Amino acid sequence: MNLLSVLLIDDNESQLEVLAGFIQKLGFRVATANSGESGTCYLQNNYIDLVITDFKMPGINGIQVLEQVKAINPDIEVMLITAFGTIEDSVEAMKKGAWDYLSKPIDLEELKIKLHKLANYKNLQKENAILQARIDNKFPTTKMVYKSRAMDEVMNLVARVCDSNVSVLITGESGTGKEMIARAIHHSSLRANHPFIPVNCAAIPESLFESEFFGHEKGAFTGSIKRRLGHFEVSDKGTLFLDEVADIPLNFQVKLLRAIQEKEFQRLGSSQFIQIDTRIISATNQNIEKLVKQGRFRSDLFFRLNVIPVVIPPLRDRKEDIHLLAEYFIEKYRKINNRSIESISKEALDKLTKYHFPGNVRELENLIERAVILSRNTHIQKEDIAISDSDLPVFSTSTRLEERVEELEKQLIQKTLKKTGGNKTAAAKILGISERVIRYKIKKYNI
Ligand SMILES: Nc1ncnc2c1ncn2[C@@H]1O[C@H](COP(=O)(O)OP(=O)(O)OP(=O)(O)O)[C@@H](O)[C@H]1O
Ligand SMILES: [Mg+2]
Repeated sequence: MNLLSVLLIDDNESQLEVLAGFIQKLGFRVATANSGESGTCYLQNNYIDLVITDFKMPGINGIQVLEQVKAINPDIEVMLITAFGTIEDSVEAMKKGAWDYLSKPIDLEELKIKLHKLANYKNLQKENAILQARIDNKFPTTKMVYKSRAMDEVMNLVARVCDSNVSVLITGESGTGKEMIARAIHHSSLRANHPFIPVNCAAIPESLFESEFFGHEKGAFTGSIKRRLGHFEVSDKGTLFLDEVADIPLNFQVKLLRAIQEKEFQRLGSSQFIQIDTRIISATNQNIEKLVKQGRFRSDLFFRLNVIPVVIPPLRDRKEDIHLLAEYFIEKYRKINNRSIESISKEALDKLTKYHFPGNVRELENLIERAVILSRNTHIQKEDIAISDSDLPVFSTSTRLEERVEELEKQLIQKTLKKTGGNKTAAAKILGISERVIRYKIKKYNI
């Protein structure tokens, strides 16, 4: 169980000490403040689950603390300590969103029960958020986040192919959202109530393709102790998603093509033909047309799969999506990790926008998840984004060839020097220039 972190606010020093000691003994983390002002100030920079505050204090009172806490982060719970007999105060506090109240004199046993109850609740809340995120991850049909024109066009095409049964081949770099699109097509198609079966073709050992796709009867081969249905049969009336399709071995490609064309197949060890009605969506991050030219992928299968090609542009070519996606992932991981991050600073966003994202949206998602967990601020700062400066281009937006070439030159020299630990002779050698030239350039570019 996760233990709560508690902030205790009370102007009465001796009561503050007693309560803090007691709560600490229960195993919770405690911070203390002797006024509402210093308490809410502490909250701006520290993560807290629960605020316990006295009602009557000089300066801002308990209700005002409650209001300010909820304004800072509505997920923080507040418990008010009210004087004996002032039931109206407690009612007002509860109405304004307090989690609970304690009346003086404080019954420590009661406090203990209330704290444990809240801890349980908070844990449950977190588990639910994780579960929800897993479901969202499994069926991310409604969550394609984008605003770029390029993605608009992709989604437009996707919307038009949903209702037909044509094969779709989705290509794009790793992490661009190919599987998401495949699921989106399935879930918006008439097949949505039937299975979506994703198959990672890169993960299947060559000898197992046939039994994986067509299934087998009991005793079809050594080790087949019972009948097993293959991907084709399981995806009947639904969609079969051939992920990493370029990795299907040539000898199985023939059999796959036949099954798709004839809409029927035989289980291994059976002579009976089974009819299927399956839609095929495939995806790859390889240049499959090149593989066809090289004879490593059958052209007839390629044409069959590639009736509608959907090409997802890399994130670096649709930088307009970065901000929106970043906000979306902040919200997602803020909830899962119970953090009070609200947004991203301009500098951090600038850093993301400059980056070339070889891992595309997945990489952005990982960067944000990490930043949300590690950031100490309400806004993600530049330093929270784990991209090293050497991975950022120093490009200006200049379109002048000479300037761009110079920028590139500077960058290359910097990188090489880093590699050689600052050794100019070695760097010059790697770059194929003389020591005199490298010295000159270092000076020129102020490296
Ligand atoms: N437009 C988007 N909106 C929201 N999330 C996205 C978007 N594009 C991608 N993602 C997220 O990025 C991650 C990678 O997406 P996905 O698995 O679909 O990519 P992929 O192209 O199949 O990657 P790979 O080639 O590595 O298999 C997922 O967590 C997905 O939820
Ligand atoms: Mg994928």
